[in-house]
Amino acid sequence: MTDHDFITGLPKAELHLHIEGSLEPELMFALAERNRITIPFATVEAVRAAYDFSNLQDFLDIYYAGANVLQTEQDFRDLAVAYFDRAAADGVVHAEIMFDPQTHTDRGIAFGTVIAGLLAGMADAETRHSMTSKLIMSFLRHLDEEAAFATLAAAEPWLDRIDAVGLDSSELGHPPEKFARVFAAARGKGLRLVAHAGEEGPPDYVRQALDLLDIDRLDHGNRSLEDPVLTARLARIGMTLTVCPLSNLKLCVVRDMAEHPIDRMLKAGLRATINSDDPAYFGGYIADNYRAVAMARGLDRNDLALLARNSFLGSFLPDDVVAKHL
Ligand code: HPA
Ligand code: ZN
Repeated sequence: MTDHDFITGLPKAELHLHIEGSLEPELMFALAERNRITIPFATVEAVRAAYDFSNLQDFLDIYYAGANVLQTEQDFRDLAVAYFDRAAADGVVHAEIMFDPQTHTDRGIAFGTVIAGLLAGMADAETRHSMTSKLIMSFLRHLDEEAAFATLAAAEPWLDRIDAVGLDSSELGHPPEKFARVFAAARGKGLRLVAHAGEEGPPDYVRQALDLLDIDRLDHGNRSLEDPVLTARLARIGMTLTVCPLSNLKLCVVRDMAEHPIDRMLKAGLRATINSDDPAYFGGYIADNYRAVAMARGLDRNDLALLARNSFLGSFLPDDVVAKHL
């Protein structure tokens, strides 16, 4: 069996995926036409050519603009179905997907429109691919605490369909401590907690995510490695890191894939996983991410199997279901 087929065939969970980041340029154009929205690009190729980022904010500006074409429940369903189809082809059997309600509610799209469409896509994935999935509602950290509380309130009727809350968008200048109270409130409602930290932000933001947010899972976490005490702590508590290699490359978190720290993470005893983050923007889905680091860092099949195993251990599936996947 080729390495390519081994990676595709490895059953895996995807734990770090922004559904808005799976909007491929082709679908962006189709939805723009369907909803009579003008987008500032003439062709699909022109969209792809614009995906040249020097940092997180560069990407976020274009990612929020792209999301404007998403208007109706059907649009969100089509977006989710396209992602699940692509993920199934890559051997994903379980996905915990993030969505950013504020990106939509702030431009007048009802919370219910967004989530009803995504849930319909999730039901379709279960029917057609036997793929299970969970929803993570992410707060935009460049907005204030009050806006995050309003989002949590808007989610109230849907809380039985949402597994976790997350924290994403512009990291620098928006430390986890800003959201300590809203995360505590989410915990009080029985939700799991995840947060992006240590992508561009310093190790102290990771420490805050642990101490002030009480996270169950760490999104990215790369810069934790700058602090040996923090790294040892993450290893000791068995914290799952949702690492996204192609994202790290495209957003200049690493200069070259040959410098990616995935194997250093595993050697340090961290429960690292591989994920695609925003695959339509970063040039690859989950199997492409496995392949890119495997090639660049010389990972063998045992390493790859460990990364896939970590993805189930780090999921929010019940223990008996996790055991079936191991
Ligand atoms: N980081 C922060 N916010 C995001 C990302 C990311 O990689 N992708 C989508 N929103
Ligand atoms: Zn992310």
